[in-house]
Amino acid sequence: MIKRTAPANLMVVFGASGDLAKRKLMPSLFHLFRQKLLHKGFVVLGYARTAMTDEEFRTQVGDALREHQAEEHGDAFDEEAWQRFSQMLFYQTGGYDDLGSFQSLAARVVALDDEFPTQHNHLFYLATPPNVFEPIASLLNEVGLTAAGDGGWTRLIIEKPFGHDLQSAHKLNDHLLSVFHEDQIYRIDHYLGKETVQNILVFRFGNGIFEPIWNRNYVDHVQITVSESLGVGTRGGYYDKSGAIRDMVQNHMMQLVALTAMEPPVAYDAESVRNQKVNVLRSIRPTDPLEVNKSVVRAQYAAGLAGGKEIPGYLEAEGIPPNSTTETYVAWKLEIDNWRWNGVPFYIRTGKALPTKVTEVNVMFRRPPLMYFDSRETRGQKVRNSITLRIQPDESIILGFDAKRPGPQLDVEQVSMDFVYGRAFGNSAISDAYERLLLDAMLGDSTLFIRRDETELAWDRVTNVLDGWEIQEEIMRKRGKTLPLPQYEAGTWGPLESDDLLARDGHHWREPILNGSK
Ligand code: BG6
Repeated sequence: MIKRTAPANLMVVFGASGDLAKRKLMPSLFHLFRQKLLHKGFVVLGYARTAMTDEEFRTQVGDALREHQAEEHGDAFDEEAWQRFSQMLFYQTGGYDDLGSFQSLAARVVALDDEFPTQHNHLFYLATPPNVFEPIASLLNEVGLTAAGDGGWTRLIIEKPFGHDLQSAHKLNDHLLSVFHEDQIYRIDHYLGKETVQNILVFRFGNGIFEPIWNRNYVDHVQITVSESLGVGTRGGYYDKSGAIRDMVQNHMMQLVALTAMEPPVAYDAESVRNQKVNVLRSIRPTDPLEVNKSVVRAQYAAGLAGGKEIPGYLEAEGIPPNSTTETYVAWKLEIDNWRWNGVPFYIRTGKALPTKVTEVNVMFRRPPLMYFDSRETRGQKVRNSITLRIQPDESIILGFDAKRPGPQLDVEQVSMDFVYGRAFGNSAISDAYERLLLDAMLGDSTLFIRRDETELAWDRVTNVLDGWEIQEEIMRKRGKTLPLPQYEAGTWGPLESDDLLARDGHHWREPILNGSK
């Protein structure tokens, strides 16, 4: 296997003094460096409003890396590698909507291109709040930094949120595409950088035994759970404007649905894979805003104990207005109107302050036509076989089936066969999602990035739900009231309404299997 190493490039990180840069980007770049995957012509130019010298920036990054190393890995920090890596870091102070600052930035880029063998390849990373995405793109264009020059390439990496609803997503995309080409834009969804998410396609299309049963003839329904045990913590200011459906469903969960449901691509390349994901998103039946409660449940957490920690209720959290109707939990029954999935519901749920942090896709298979071996434990259960793609933690794939319990009578019990990443590939095999994505962007491989039509289709389906909620709230406002949201106690699996959503179809949520085995 040929090692994929990055070509030379100058990476400008907007928002370099922010949280994302410190917690994700810099640690990932440093790890790529330590694995010798970066080019000797690689340079980072941090850019933010905070006034700092190159040296001060290096000190700040060094501190963040040490902290990250201690928190995430607990092993010794590689000082020698850091000394070398720090020499590749530079910093430029400037505003995000001020031409003069961008002229100085352009001059700095030219100077660094002259000093280092960057080959005039430029990667602009927008790790900033979304309100400055458009001004940054315009100013980059104005100072001539969007055009590739001297044989180099120019690319833009952008973090979510890509808009707030369909209309704003459309506007943002139009704006970006007025200064960049679509193939220069790399929209990040960090779930696609996760090993286990990439493995969904390998599992489905790299093996001959699963795909023949991966359809409406054999699958009863699909459940996707993305749960988190933490509350909103200190992110209330951001979260209250977003809520679970914008924060998690529009992006990460729609991607999980697309990868689980898509048809085999013509080839494993950016165009073909994304075409098939788009087909799935187009096939998701749009929700009628007036009937939103039939297929979508939203709720807010109340105080409780989650993941071993006391969590105050959402409405008491820092930065949350006392009458907020922002949902911290959402469950949605999706119907996919295509040849493969017609009649197979995809139930998805996500929430904060749930019992544990876990992400999994459960493909639940139909029961055999005759149930000879029913036991008290299994009687009445519609589903007897399942494949669980455990995305995180305890990354694994688990096949659930019935077996005869040893003994003189015929007792049947659910057992499992599992593949655990840690056991097969070692515990340190899985690195941070950002590493893979940064490397891919440098290599010009956009397979794991979101294309314009993907994000807009996902917004389209989500915006119908948001419209439905808005209509309900409007009705209450006219009556001088606020809409009470269903509540769930922190540390429980969401509101009863969510159980009802499945119970109506004769199903129930599958409790996540912990520790990679039954
Ligand atoms: C982010 C959301 O996109 O994903 C956060 O904004 C959420 O609210 C996070 O906590 C979850 O990511 P992961 O990788 O920890 O599952």
